[in-house]
Amino acid sequence: MKESIEALQREINAFAIRNDEELEAFRLRFLVRKGGIATLFDALRDIEPAERPTYGKLLNGLRKSAERKFEDAAGKLEQSASRAKTHGIDLTLPGRREFLGSEHPAQKVLGDMKRIFGDMGFTIATGPELESGSYNFDMLNFPPNHPARDMQDTFFIRRTPGEDDLLLRTHTSPVQIRVMLDEKPPIRVICPGKVYRNEAISARSYCVFHQLEGLYIDKHVSFSDLKATIYSFARQMFGRDVRLRFRPSFFPFTEPSAEVDVSCYLCSAKGCKVCKQSGWLEILGCGMVHPNVLKNCGIDPEEYSGYAFGMGVDRTALLRYKIDDIRLLFENDVRMLEQFSQ
Ligand code: PHE
Repeated sequence: MKESIEALQREINAFAIRNDEELEAFRLRFLVRKGGIATLFDALRDIEPAERPTYGKLLNGLRKSAERKFEDAAGKLEQSASRAKTHGIDLTLPGRREFLGSEHPAQKVLGDMKRIFGDMGFTIATGPELESGSYNFDMLNFPPNHPARDMQDTFFIRRTPGEDDLLLRTHTSPVQIRVMLDEKPPIRVICPGKVYRNEAISARSYCVFHQLEGLYIDKHVSFSDLKATIYSFARQMFGRDVRLRFRPSFFPFTEPSAEVDVSCYLCSAKGCKVCKQSGWLEILGCGMVHPNVLKNCGIDPEEYSGYAFGMGVDRTALLRYKIDDIRLLFENDVRMLEQFSQ
């Protein structure tokens, strides 16, 4: 018995465990129910009862040493496996950064405008940038020879005599027509979007820009509703203390019409380069929807009235973010755009 125990101990000591297979072989050889150690335990039964405790003790020691060797080896193998996983990775290198895009300055301003009008109950309507001549002009009560139709202002895509023109919309007002043809009053929508004009390109004007149109049609809508809405908008957009100036103006689709100036919020109306020392900045055109426009859309002007307004978005973005060239808004150079990530 003694020799068998010593022989097994030597075998355990000599057993090399260098990988998972050898670890498993070790377990099968010594530690399982039919393994070398259990077999010796079984053999205890054939030994004189008086000597059993001595050999029992030796066998227990043998089992402990096999178990310890097994656990040590298993621990080491696991460690080196996890080290292998990071092998080839230089943990001292800086990580790769995820680059986040940022919102375009014109979209930020547009977002504020949408929120302010959204709070007042306006929903958003959109229309196509490629528009028909009748929606862009005729239905809006433009007379047939109105200068705005001129080639100098409008990008015509198709002009076939006897057919409706196809053009890039010159303003967001055709969306008014689309909404009035589609929906019954009360109507309360804003229509944000891009518009196109064939103008000389400079730091101040570009062939494409953003507008936001507003339209409210209901019974008994008056010019004072329009004023209150514009006042509320201007205070939220430009500051509580801004003043407004309504100047009489003309648009074929509104009567009466006005252009609205806001007191220059850059110099507190003292006069600066941006407001050209006048203390005022023009922000929008507006008026009461012309009865002819209502009629064109099947709305009875005796029963309903409404107001409309249209404002530029880009100039506010230029002023707010102190950008001095409108072309920068449309070139989409990331070096410019990433300055607005906050
Ligand atoms: N569509 C006009 C423009 O582009 C603005 C406007 C809209 C004026 C609605 C009155 C009412 O200049």
